[in-house]
Amino acid sequence: MTVTVVTGAARGMGRSCAERLKGSVEHLVTVDLVAPEIEGTIGLACDVSDPAAIAALVDHVGTLGPFRALAHAAGISPTMADPRRIFDVDLVGTQRMLDAFEPLVVSGSAAVCFSSLAAYQIAPFADPTLDALIDEPLAADFLDRIAGLVTDSGYAYGLAKRGVVRAAARAAVRWGRRGGRVNSLAPGIIDTPMGRQELEQQPVMRTMLEQVPLGRLGGADEVAAAAAFLLSDDASFVSGIDVLVDGALMPGMAARGTAGP
Ligand SMILES: NC(=O)c1ccc[n+]([C@@H]2O[C@H](COP(=O)([O-])OP(=O)(O)OC[C@H]3O[C@@H](n4cnc5c(N)ncnc54)[C@H](O)[C@@H]3O)[C@@H](O)[C@H]2O)c1
Repeated sequence: MTVTVVTGAARGMGRSCAERLKGSVEHLVTVDLVAPEIEGTIGLACDVSDPAAIAALVDHVGTLGPFRALAHAAGISPTMADPRRIFDVDLVGTQRMLDAFEPLVVSGSAAVCFSSLAAYQIAPFADPTLDALIDEPLAADFLDRIAGLVTDSGYAYGLAKRGVVRAAARAAVRWGRRGGRVNSLAPGIIDTPMGRQELEQQPVMRTMLEQVPLGRLGGADEVAAAAAFLLSDDASFVSGIDVLVDGALMPGMAARGTAGP
């Protein structure tokens, strides 16, 4: 029996991914800071910023059967932490997960890592020095250096998620040699506990929401549907890309001349 893993599965989009995948995959392992309790799945506690916890997770997955898929939705947002912690969970954690699962990759394995619309918002302001840093998130001094340069949590989040897009593309090259695929998925403004918290605490988010051409928040299940496609054999030649699931918010903002952080 193959094994599929969903992180951040206690709530939000990770939870929706778990609910959507559980009927169509064999073993489903659900992961969060506290072990999720979702019927028909194996719930495990794992802090995705803790290398030892990731190693234990991967060991456990390896004992259950061949590795089929990973939906890595665990993450934190600008109003939840300072820049250092955001980089540690969102970027360093993603790189560690991709590296740790790599030895388990067999033909047909696939991963989708959650990036963000925020990565697109900071793209016009990309800085080669910062890009060089985020491309080496496991460097010994990474968190000290990046936290010394980036002091705004919103910018840190966008930059960390830009790093996720780039880490997933690099992993696609490595996993591809074993027949595995890696993509990232960038949600827009989505109706989850995180999305609602950002909407409540950041007025700019409400202005952005008004510019979604579809005129509404995205549903967590709508994002889970896109993630499930990327993990499925229907996407068997889709690898190394970022899929923006934002109800056309980015082109909506560009049309109004308001794209940017
Ligand atoms: N909601 C949005 O509008 C939105 C937009 C763009 C990107 N995203 C990204 O999508 C992903 C899912 O977001 P969501 O809205 O479902 O968030 P959420 O906060 O509703 O759920 C995230 C889950 O991740 C878990 N988590 C956080 N840190 C963890 C850690 N260190 N180890 C293990 N689990 C941890 C939390 O406990 C929580 O259950 C995140 O990566 C987020 O950055 C969300």
